Amino acid sequence: MPNDMDARSQRRGEGGDRDGRAPEPRLYGELASWWPLVSQPAEYEEASLFYQRVLIEACGHPLRTLLELGSGGGNNASHLKKRFEVTLVDRAPGMLTVSRALNPECTHVEGDMRVVRLGRQFDCVFVQDAIGYMSTVHDLRQAMQTAFIHCKEGGVALFAPDYIRENFRPSTQHGGHDGALRSLRYVEWTWDPDPTDSCYTVDFAYLLREGSGVVRVEQDRHVLGLFARAEWLELLAEAGFEARAVPAPFGEAEPSGREVFRAIKPGKGCAKAADVG
Ligand SMILES: C[S@@+](CC[C@H](N)C(=O)[O-])C[C@H]1O[C@@H](n2cnc3c(N)ncnc32)[C@H](O)[C@@H]1O
Repeated sequence: MPNDMDARSQRRGEGGDRDGRAPEPRLYGELASWWPLVSQPAEYEEASLFYQRVLIEACGHPLRTLLELGSGGGNNASHLKKRFEVTLVDRAPGMLTVSRALNPECTHVEGDMRVVRLGRQFDCVFVQDAIGYMSTVHDLRQAMQTAFIHCKEGGVALFAPDYIRENFRPSTQHGGHDGALRSLRYVEWTWDPDPTDSCYTVDFAYLLREGSGVVRVEQDRHVLGLFARAEWLELLAEAGFEARAVPAPFGEAEPSGREVFRAIKPGKGCAKAADVG
């Protein structure tokens, strides 16, 4: 039976790599080659342009290099590479293969955003929906530290979770695409089985049709972190950033869209976070 402290810290997701960690989503492992039929670059264009603008406006000096952590199939990168020299880190080899095909001019590195160390720094560090896979405070803290270590002084990091605690709403969605030789459709069901812990769940059913015409159904579960705005800001400050929340005019979150976190690493050439719009 856990004592009160243990129970509280488990609810906050302080547990780190304890037993009970959610398994890797199948979409990024055995099903990774299907990713381009789940999600395509055009769906990321509006958001990528917004992220690019937030990054550029955060700093009073030109930005050239960008590191994306959890870059997946490289849809964001396919837009960001037009403006930045991009390095992409993901822990799933199959997703890196997809991204390499789409973004051959970017540098790809296999690594875990909690612990990867590239030995160099970037003008900006970007973590979009992949930050959701940090489902405990321990993991989120580690990912923020990785971003801080890889960010130049006066540079900026941007974290764009799908939801924070305040704007989370259960929902269902569907989507998918047809390729030349195969097709995919999915149903996505977002819900929070236990509102007292630091996670929510996205259950997927994928319908996969291959050349022979046979359709098979695969199920997948993604467990994602859900933290309040104040927790985000507290953890970013603890990591060393000067951070603020920025509303984003798109996304599933209600009522007004996503909320992202722009985090400046104090140092030379950098406007104070509070002074930038
Ligand atoms: C939804 S996909 C990202 C898609 C991406 N935003 C794009 O533009 O294509 C999420 C990715 O996060 C990656 N990921 C999850 N946990 C990670 C970790 N600890 N370190 C690195 N990558 C991770 C997964 O392997 C997956 O490729």
